[in-house]
Amino acid sequence: MKLFQPITLKDTTIRNRIVMAPMCQYQADDDGFVQPWHLTHYTSRSIGGVGLIIVEATGIERRGRLSGNCLGIYHDEHIEGLERIATWGRMNGAVMGIQLSHGGRKGHGDSLIGPSAISADPQRYPVPQELTDEGIDQLLMLWKEAAGRAREAGFDMIQLHGAHGYLLHSFLSPIANQRQDQYGGSPENRRRLLMRVVQSVKEEWPDDRLLSVRLSAVDYVSGGLTLEDTSATVIALKEAGVDIIDISSGGIVPALIDAFPGYQVTLAQAVKAASSLPTIAVGRLDSLDLAESVVASGHADFVALGRALLRDPHWVLRSTEQLADVPWPESYNRARRHS
Ligand SMILES: Cc1cc2nc3c(=O)[nH]c(=O)nc-3n(C[C@H](O)[C@H](O)[C@H](O)COP(=O)(O)O)c2cc1C
Repeated sequence: MKLFQPITLKDTTIRNRIVMAPMCQYQADDDGFVQPWHLTHYTSRSIGGVGLIIVEATGIERRGRLSGNCLGIYHDEHIEGLERIATWGRMNGAVMGIQLSHGGRKGHGDSLIGPSAISADPQRYPVPQELTDEGIDQLLMLWKEAAGRAREAGFDMIQLHGAHGYLLHSFLSPIANQRQDQYGGSPENRRRLLMRVVQSVKEEWPDDRLLSVRLSAVDYVSGGLTLEDTSATVIALKEAGVDIIDISSGGIVPALIDAFPGYQVTLAQAVKAASSLPTIAVGRLDSLDLAESVVASGHADFVALGRALLRDPHWVLRSTEQLADVPWPESYNRARRHS
């Protein structure tokens, strides 16, 4: 099955096309430090055969975390725990990524920031402060420093969280971004912050390691982001040196989404067709036949699994039990039933 064939990007070989989607665990302490939970959780999925693990949204500043118990990467002291996650995962054959994130107007605490002074949801979030030019320069520094810490921790890939209504998405979307300056208005202006973040991160992130961006392809609301906007952004990201695009959707406003199995695949397919960038599809792809068809048809290069890997850390092992050419951990081979 193509799903279980390796793929090489730059100098990194990923043993199969299964990605563990980034998923907040809400298990860090109140200053974002790694706990035994994280080590057990991510290491289990690496033993379980996942090709690429993307560690959950990890805040580049304290108020940019998505909750008071999300991981942080804003102190040098955070590196030690994160390094352990990266090392233990790699020891078990997984390529290890980390999602760098800033919640913006959907962050944590009372002093939120955003492109414009518009609350993401007045029931849940205060009105954010509109970012100034100085604020943007400070943020670029924080993204850059976080990338340096991810490098020190030994991750193979950084993913920038540009989806689900958080800071970078909120600049991209005309719903949240009503600025009149060089960061608002035209699609080019709205993507300027994301492009500058990519540039800043690349100052600390080595060219031979992988760089990914996760985007919400559409906002599911009139006047919001469209697939055409997103495809243009992905083409610009490719020119800026991004290696892998991960296509999700929604999050800028509460929307009713029909989340049938594979509901976001056509979005990934369109973005890949427009950009030819290696693409991750995500969203209820845990039926083996569906996952294989997404990769075999070339609609996407990778299939990310979220909740399925929460339910079953051994999803890959279970799926490859009969595929003798797909190696299992030596210690588990006696559990492999052959027909
Ligand atoms: C518990 C949980 C936490 C999540 N946290 C994140 C996150 O940190 N970053 C992110 O980009 N998406 C996050 N997501 C979304 C998942 O990455 C994924 O896109 C979504 O669950 C759909 O995939 P699935 O149907 O395979 O679960 C989270 C989802 C779940 C269920």
